[in-house]
Amino acid sequence: MAVPRADAQGAEALAELVEWQRARRVQFPIIAAHPDLAYLDSAATAQKPQAVLDAVHAYLTTSNANAGRGTYPWANRTTSLVEQTRDRVKRFLQDPAPQRSSVHFTSGATEGLRTIARDWLPGLLADGDEIVVPVADHEANIAPWLEARRQLARQGVHIDVRPMPYQRASGDYDHTALAELAGHRTRFVAVTHVHHVYGGDMNVHRIRRAVGPDAVICLDAAQSVGHLPVSMAELDVDFAVFSGHKAMALPGTGAIWARQERGPRFGPAGWEGTPNTVGIASLAAALDWLDAAGTDRIERWTVALAARFTEGLRHLGAYEILGCQSSLAADSPVQRRQGIVTFRHRAVDSGDLGFILFSHGFMVRSDQHCQGSAGERTGSVRVSLHVHNTVEETDRLLEVLATLG
Ligand code: ALA
Repeated sequence: MAVPRADAQGAEALAELVEWQRARRVQFPIIAAHPDLAYLDSAATAQKPQAVLDAVHAYLTTSNANAGRGTYPWANRTTSLVEQTRDRVKRFLQDPAPQRSSVHFTSGATEGLRTIARDWLPGLLADGDEIVVPVADHEANIAPWLEARRQLARQGVHIDVRPMPYQRASGDYDHTALAELAGHRTRFVAVTHVHHVYGGDMNVHRIRRAVGPDAVICLDAAQSVGHLPVSMAELDVDFAVFSGHKAMALPGTGAIWARQERGPRFGPAGWEGTPNTVGIASLAAALDWLDAAGTDRIERWTVALAARFTEGLRHLGAYEILGCQSSLAADSPVQRRQGIVTFRHRAVDSGDLGFILFSHGFMVRSDQHCQGSAGERTGSVRVSLHVHNTVEETDRLLEVLATLG
């Protein structure tokens, strides 16, 4: 059976979801207050719906206290909030065995990955073990593992770092090459769910098959949590790490989810100070909002918008699209583009293009996107979409881009 093209599927999704989308868009006060601007930088940070702002206000005006310390009502409410939000994170991630997993709050994905590398990874590894590092992904998912290797080497434990193999054309992992590279000493594999530059779903379900049943897999879900359903029941990974601010919560929030089945038990080392209680209140409200909106619908909307935008951009000869050239359908065996489209003008510098686009009301990211050393060498413009973005915005962006050809 032929795989249906995303443009046909996408048009259907956009038509079906248009009323649902309008009802969600109006819930973002900053978007409603700026009708002439188009926020196309949700991969950098997501805007917050009114429900999250309300939860922050309610927490600070009814319960603000420290957690796990006092015994008076505000403190008790704060302690319950922190504990209940751990369970909320597990439910949001469709945890199949919540009694065995654990959730630790962090300041974001970067701190989450660094904590695993610093506090947990050394306990897994012995001299001569190997780890796989995704060298063309976000620097936050590379630097901590290399630092762990340096720290271990100082203690006389030498770890072999294997660069993750990629398929150059799409930016996807090369799962076949990974299967050849991974051996019985491969103890740990760091991967990314959705690539922050190429926008592709990295087919993480294929990683387990490639590396075998025993290796620990750590998933950077910074660009997927809040944008699509992320299911720990479906993905056989051991850690999932995300940033709250990219999932509509306040900056300075994030979490590590740990399955606790392979390797030593995970727990951050040392004294844990006061948690970011107001951030945790915002995270609980954000996850409620996202579940009520439906992450499956958010995904359908943003994937369809990205597909329409990618198709339009492909026909403008002045631009080079990074990663997969077209957005493929959900059942594609190859790769599916999520709501991120990154491109370059063949003659205009990306930084300049960012300024030009803002003069037309478009907010995009334009630089090298903190990509690792095996990534792109020159800058690009990234358009990243969320539920508040509209067909009118992306079509208008294409019109402006066409005038620069
Ligand atoms: N990690 C964020 C991004 O990719 C900031 O833009």
